[in-house]
Amino acid sequence: MSPFSLTRTLPEDATDAALRADVLQGLAATPKTLPPKWFYDARGSDLFERITELPEYYPTRAEREILIARAGEIAAASGARTVVELGSGSSEKTRHLLDELTDLHTYVPVDVSESALSQAGRALIAERPGLHVHALIADFTAGLTLPDTPGPRLVAFLGSTIGNLLPHERATFLKSVRALLAPGDALLLGTDLVKDESVLVAAYDDASGVTAEFDKNVLAVINRELGGDFDLDAFTHVAVWDAGNEWIEMRLRARAAQTVKIPALGLVVDFAEGEFLRTEVSSKFREQGVRRELAEAGLELTHWWTDAAGRFALSLSTPR
Ligand code: SAH
Ligand code: TRP
Repeated sequence: MSPFSLTRTLPEDATDAALRADVLQGLAATPKTLPPKWFYDARGSDLFERITELPEYYPTRAEREILIARAGEIAAASGARTVVELGSGSSEKTRHLLDELTDLHTYVPVDVSESALSQAGRALIAERPGLHVHALIADFTAGLTLPDTPGPRLVAFLGSTIGNLLPHERATFLKSVRALLAPGDALLLGTDLVKDESVLVAAYDDASGVTAEFDKNVLAVINRELGGDFDLDAFTHVAVWDAGNEWIEMRLRARAAQTVKIPALGLVVDFAEGEFLRTEVSSKFREQGVRRELAEAGLELTHWWTDAAGRFALSLSTPR
């Protein structure tokens, strides 16, 4: 195997069919909604990287702090020869962990964003000539098949991307991850924690408007891929804390009544003035809840680490 390979597990027409189905279903629903994975075309991945550098967006810095402090412990506990990372994006924080894994043979970044995977993969190969990088363009919610690489495996799911799944989706997802693990393998999970509402809202509605641009990018994807005529300026980005569900909800609010046409779907969608389109939730967690959700999927939490300010947690769990 060459040190870098990029494998598409879904044919492009299947991705297109999935986008069509999601948009048809989501825009017919009340309230209207769109699944988050469609944010991440090349521009969406770039905008997300800018989010990670915003002063208000603390999760990336908090998680990096934990990874730097605990990489040695994580490496010792897992002894991984293969690291599989779901939703790997730029793989930037993961380097701290890869550097400590002395027996590491293969790194398998998995993402829907081809641009993020090829950039990250090539950079890693240049830095670590001996490492095999087997990048997979795949949807981590759609039943993953992993390449045959040496164990033990560590599956990393960072960035609190798990919080972007709804609770019932999380349960299904965690069971599918559990099914990928053999005895001796482990899951490293990043979860953002419940905290003060003002801190949370600012993290998802920054002063410079990068998050708003990111949120609206999903409309640009629909315009480009399906010939839609969404006017991005006709929507306002809103982030609201839902205290009952303990999640931040990202919404696009129609500034005025309008009609949007999506020719590739033969779809005409009306928005009332002030109507919301829900684009994403970002759930916030507590230790007991994480422990319980893992246990319900057949995983036992063995380690729980937070940053010094207690904003974010990394947990390690193993199959029971
Ligand atoms: N792990 C990185 C990036 C987090 S952003 C970090 O912590 O900074 C979420 C990443 O998950 C993006 O790169 C996005 O393209 C990817 N992603 C979102 N939904 C996905 C899905 N269903 N399947 C695979 N990748 C997905
Ligand atoms: N996993 C990230 C989070 O929930 C994704 C994210 C960050 C995001 N900022 C966003 C998603 C803004 C949509 C809009 O923190």
